Amino acid sequence: MNLLEKLDAAAAARIAMLPTGVGAFGIPIEEVYSATEARIGDRRVLLLGTNNYLGLTFAPECLEAAHEAIDEEGTGTTGSRMANGSYFGHRALEKEFAAFYQCSSGMVFTTGYQANLGTISGLVGQGDTVLIDGDSHASIYDGCILSGADIIRFKHNDMADLEKRLRRLGNRTETTLIIAEGIYSMLGDQAPLAEIVELKKKYGCFLLLDEAHSLGVLGETGQGLVEKTGLLKEVDFITGTFSKSLCSIGGYCVSNHPQLEQLRFVSHPYIFTASPSPATIASTRAALELLRNGTELRDQLWKNSLQLYTQLEETGYKLGPDPGPVISAMVESPQQALALWQGLLDHDIYVNLILPPAAPEGKSLVRCSVNAAHTTEQMKYVGDTFAKLKQEILN
Ligand SMILES: Cc1ncc(COP(=O)(O)O)c(C=O)c1O
Repeated sequence: MNLLEKLDAAAAARIAMLPTGVGAFGIPIEEVYSATEARIGDRRVLLLGTNNYLGLTFAPECLEAAHEAIDEEGTGTTGSRMANGSYFGHRALEKEFAAFYQCSSGMVFTTGYQANLGTISGLVGQGDTVLIDGDSHASIYDGCILSGADIIRFKHNDMADLEKRLRRLGNRTETTLIIAEGIYSMLGDQAPLAEIVELKKKYGCFLLLDEAHSLGVLGETGQGLVEKTGLLKEVDFITGTFSKSLCSIGGYCVSNHPQLEQLRFVSHPYIFTASPSPATIASTRAALELLRNGTELRDQLWKNSLQLYTQLEETGYKLGPDPGPVISAMVESPQQALALWQGLLDHDIYVNLILPPAAPEGKSLVRCSVNAAHTTEQMKYVGDTFAKLKQEILN
């Protein structure tokens, strides 16, 4: 099979899995009306499949900051952070992230994906080891591959398995980086951070926590799992993204290790790419300010999340173990998942469809992402529709 025929075969396999041929993946959003509503085809849909946890995509403060930055600094930096792409705003945002986490250093990357790629490949290399959770996001896997370090996976959130693998490393643990996530994006469950920290200390290795889905969601001021668990000082490196609670695009890494600064000179995903646009940086700074100031958005997010999680659980859906804004209904087969996804769209609700191999352990998921801008009525409508479709499709 040549290169193009291989792609044809992959496409055929995907289409065969989706008997109705509906384009669940990459579905065009024709118009966006608000943080909770958009148009798909000729339907006005309720958005339950975005990572807009705090509902800030149209926050006036962020819009105004972005507009001002475009007017004053133009549409793009046209260069790398290492060359001409480090504006005042990039440095200011790095300082603001460092201050938010009470850390000495902060780095801003062009995407959250690159934050993981750049941090991991800058920290570890050939001869070093990364110990990663089996459910890690692709950016973590790819960062590990790019680094050339030995990659060892431990079973998802399984601390006995992690310790077994640490024990086998012997004196290689001092050049080992453990990587976990605050909230895992597939099932919305949280890492057992206290136990991971205990093992990290016991075996003398380093720990990186990706707070992509937990920034703005967990903790009194929204730092993430580090704050919820009171373990901020025990984690060596925290990465995250601007594309979820902060409603723009970009990524960060913060640390109390001054060596983080050296990554600026060795990390290819930081160096060999253009820096985020001024508007992106400006709206991110405004969103971080909103995220830090007050718990109102987070409280509303949790109220909405618990309402939907409880209703789906009571309806008999099998969900991830930790209630939160990522609510995944696990169904028996890809066909059932597709039917449920389509049924929800037919009722003007857009959610994410996740099929094997993207979902862990061959699961088929229909995933809702709740946000702070949703209303109680919207949550009830979604819950009632899930209940109706369970009767019609899954029973
Ligand atoms: C856990 C995790 N880390 C990193 C990323 C990458 O972030 P971004 O999409 O902003 O590049 C994602 C994105 O979904 C994610 O879920």
